[in-house]
Amino acid sequence: MCGIVGYVGSQSALEVVLAGLRRLEYRGYDSAGIAVLADGGLAAARKAGKLVNLEKELAARPLPTGTTGIGHTRWATHGGPTDANAHPHLDNAGRVAVVHNGIIENFAVLRAELAERGHELFSETDTEVVAHLLAEEFSVTADLAEAMRLVCRRLEGAFTLVAAHADEPDVVVGARRNSPLVVGVGEGEAFLASDVAAFIAHTRSAIELGQDQVVELRRDGVTVTGFDGSPADVRSYHVDWDASAAEKGGYDYFMLKEIAEQPKAVADTLLGRIDASGALSLDEVRIPASELREVDKVVIVACGTAFHAGLIAKYAIEHWTRIPCEVELASEFRYRDPILDSRSLVIAISQSGETMDTLMALRHAREQGSKVLAICNTNGSTIPRESDAVLYTHAGPEVAVASTKAFLTQLVACYLVALYLGQVRGTKWGDEIRAVIRDLAQISGAVERVLETMGPVRELARSLAHKDTVLFLGRHVGYPVALEGALKLKELAYMHAEGFAAGELKHGPIALIEEDLPVVVVVPSPRGRSVLHDKIVSNIQEIRARGARTIVIAEEGDETVVPYADHLVRIPVTPVLLSPLVATVPLQVFACELATARGNEVDQPRNLAKSVTVE
Ligand code: G6P
Repeated sequence: MCGIVGYVGSQSALEVVLAGLRRLEYRGYDSAGIAVLADGGLAAARKAGKLVNLEKELAARPLPTGTTGIGHTRWATHGGPTDANAHPHLDNAGRVAVVHNGIIENFAVLRAELAERGHELFSETDTEVVAHLLAEEFSVTADLAEAMRLVCRRLEGAFTLVAAHADEPDVVVGARRNSPLVVGVGEGEAFLASDVAAFIAHTRSAIELGQDQVVELRRDGVTVTGFDGSPADVRSYHVDWDASAAEKGGYDYFMLKEIAEQPKAVADTLLGRIDASGALSLDEVRIPASELREVDKVVIVACGTAFHAGLIAKYAIEHWTRIPCEVELASEFRYRDPILDSRSLVIAISQSGETMDTLMALRHAREQGSKVLAICNTNGSTIPRESDAVLYTHAGPEVAVASTKAFLTQLVACYLVALYLGQVRGTKWGDEIRAVIRDLAQISGAVERVLETMGPVRELARSLAHKDTVLFLGRHVGYPVALEGALKLKELAYMHAEGFAAGELKHGPIALIEEDLPVVVVVPSPRGRSVLHDKIVSNIQEIRARGARTIVIAEEGDETVVPYADHLVRIPVTPVLLSPLVATVPLQVFACELATARGNEVDQPRNLAKSVTVE
């Protein structure tokens, strides 16, 4: 939520910062802005709308060339997406510029104090107060890092701040509380960004910033301190993502590329998880087996698509380990005063590792003495760092706002955790675990086959572009798949889409069925519990009798559904519990194509952001 970039070096700051913002636009695209230090002064440009608007503005009115700069791409919280509310915000003398991600909760009080001292504020944002406070402190200290530390001690809420001052032309200062900020260290240059994607084209050497830390960037190095000025331990790491992984690579949209990458992402997430003896060994899980044997309840917390992965994980965890498993929306979790203790294992699932709702849920769980295991795609992000253990998914960078490959790898990670729990607790034999791992190893190829047969799904999606509503039905693990199919359609196509448990249909939703209403039905394997399959076939008949246009997703060889399917989408035969790994894929393609047919921006749907760092 909001992308931030800072640069000090010898290249054109404008170009480095703009390239970085392009990589971070997935974090918000309500407005963009940039400030450059040049010729003893500070020059800034800001524009409402996507980055392209700022680029047009810069082409019409170029900024002077400088080698120190900061930039921002915004997801609006305080104040609408206007030019005036766009970052950077400046003090009244125009000497200091600041960009911000997060929410400063006490900004109203600070704003009133500033107004009393004669400051004029022009935006509706919470951020602008920081520029004025920095200017005040700098006039006393003549040291931007010290000014930042002093200001941060007065701020409440969640904030990442990056600032530059015309009187310190070779310095950029950043501060972090809760929202993400990483440092990139190059040869004679340094970078600050919300995400390493902004600088991997320049350096793979990164530093994690901890909570309540301030960093001062100079060409020849970085200095990290606490808000109180105490020196901080610096933890460096190597970014192993390839710069090209953050490019579209010939696809029209990142989402199409990321859908196509799923076979590899699934296979990569399985890599290296089996030791020489054939047992499952999850390197990054640091919770001792003795403690995992004591666990009497699993609670999964997550948001959005990751929540749907959690809903599916519940079936595998309970079936394979016989431990009761609850799945809770992270934003609801701590407010219901959940019953947790040291024997509860909380699993936090998050692609970005920065989702504030999930972070707050895991902090609450740890305060209650529970152990937290993170399933995460982003190395070094806050959620794994604050957890007791982590299992990384190896999806590579996911840029499109709607999650696809991260979802499939979250499922794989959940299955691995479930099997691992089964292994350490002895509820699954070694050969049973190996059999599931063999099945998981087949999934990559199965997803590949699904992707090869998506032509008719695309065609169908285009033919439904004029519809207002699409419903999704499923049973058992197909139910969360239906929820995920509906979520994809909402976020991308802006259509009314709802997922239901097929059995609930008769308790209300069936009233929605009318002539030619498209209803997608995720059919469970007839080889699983046949009763489930038979029941859903009856459900298809019920809706068809009432005029629905049925779009049936069924396993290859399942002939019973053929007479009731207006459109039939085949998926490869897979074990029931693993079937969401293949059944979800046609729904992703369907939503992506339908959104394109409706002229929507697939990678950057309206009102959304990929990494939601506010509650
Ligand atoms: C946002 C995104 C969703 C994502 C959710 C959770 O709402 O738009 O696509 O599923 O956040 O994100 P996380 O990074 O925690 O998986």
